[in-house]
Amino acid sequence: MEQAERMQNLGSAMFTILDEMRRDLSAQGKSVINLSIGSPDQPPAEHIMHALLKSAENPAHYGYTLSRGIPAFLESVAQWYARRFGVELDPGTEVLPLLGSQDGLAHICLCFVNPGDLVLVPDPGYPIYSAGPALAGGILHHLPLLAANNFLPDYGALDPETARRAKVMILNYPSNPVTAVATEAFFRETVAFAQKYDIVVCHDIAYSELSFDGYRPLSFLSVPGAKEVGVEFHSLSKTYNMAGCRLGFVVGNAKIIEIFASLKSNIDYGGFLPVQHAGIAALNGSQNYVRQTAMVYQRRRDRFISTVEKAGWRITPPKATMFIWAPVPQAYRSFEFVQKLLSETGVLVVPGDAFGPSGEGYVRIALVAEDTLLDTAASRIAGFFKKHGLTT
Ligand SMILES: Cc1ncc(COP(=O)(O)O)c(C=O)c1O
Repeated sequence: MEQAERMQNLGSAMFTILDEMRRDLSAQGKSVINLSIGSPDQPPAEHIMHALLKSAENPAHYGYTLSRGIPAFLESVAQWYARRFGVELDPGTEVLPLLGSQDGLAHICLCFVNPGDLVLVPDPGYPIYSAGPALAGGILHHLPLLAANNFLPDYGALDPETARRAKVMILNYPSNPVTAVATEAFFRETVAFAQKYDIVVCHDIAYSELSFDGYRPLSFLSVPGAKEVGVEFHSLSKTYNMAGCRLGFVVGNAKIIEIFASLKSNIDYGGFLPVQHAGIAALNGSQNYVRQTAMVYQRRRDRFISTVEKAGWRITPPKATMFIWAPVPQAYRSFEFVQKLLSETGVLVVPGDAFGPSGEGYVRIALVAEDTLLDTAASRIAGFFKKHGLTT
């Protein structure tokens, strides 16, 4: 059996390698603290689980829902966007539910990218930003995210011929893995760039609610002209701890939404009705639990950084997300550092280059362990830095 060529361009082999390393160590009876995967470790709020359960008890709620979504969910999304970002959306034409934002990011390029077209993607970036274009036969063009440029792409550095060949651009702020946030000026610049080169902008804002120290991330759609050029993908996975309860949505340009809805009507028959009811409860209900969830990540961030900092690992605290993007000590390549750290401390993190070549020199640490376990991880790492005399 021979797999299709496109399969070779999917996913980063690194995640499989890391998982094998983790399993090998566990098989040897060593304790592994896995900080590699960004999967929320907290439950959803009670009222969300209650809405899901209540709806699931209704025998009439097991039919197809159709991929356009139920009106009450679409309206909840529009109202949430207005309250949270001051962005007005027409629920009938500018909102589309997704089976998780991954579903949307995996498929959107099928609508706008012909084989051989360019897709601009952040480097480093969340892996689906490469897999989605690959499924469509697109060619990736990396937009390096460098510390010197606050991890924002430099449109000025892009050659105009490349920009003209690009059909879609994917952006993600607050960003996974680099944890950077966007400014309004950058979003305005993005609109001008997309208008000039006729590029569909897909902004992934999965981490908008996991922000710290009073900082509130902006929606791309809140800047003038954004709705003419793009859409924004959102996820209930991180905001409401509903990762397994697949639900997300895409909002923005009505034409893009219409084309995408037409594609999706060929792929799925919509999400489970009780999950959409849970989504309505999440979006319309009290957002106190969301702030508490963010506070948990903020506290973990502070505890972790303060411990490893004392041992010489200097890290810029992220303003948002559930990750830390940390430089590796100069003597090491990212993967080599991850291997050594795992074998000596049992703590597993992800080498930055797993997310793209510009991630070399960094590792991503997911703050997905409760306080005591994270403290243990931080102390073991601190010991590792001291033992080898490492600093950054
Ligand atoms: C930046 C980013 N976008 C999208 C997703 C996918 O989320 P969902 O569960 O909505 O598919 C993730 C998941 O980790 C993510 O980190």
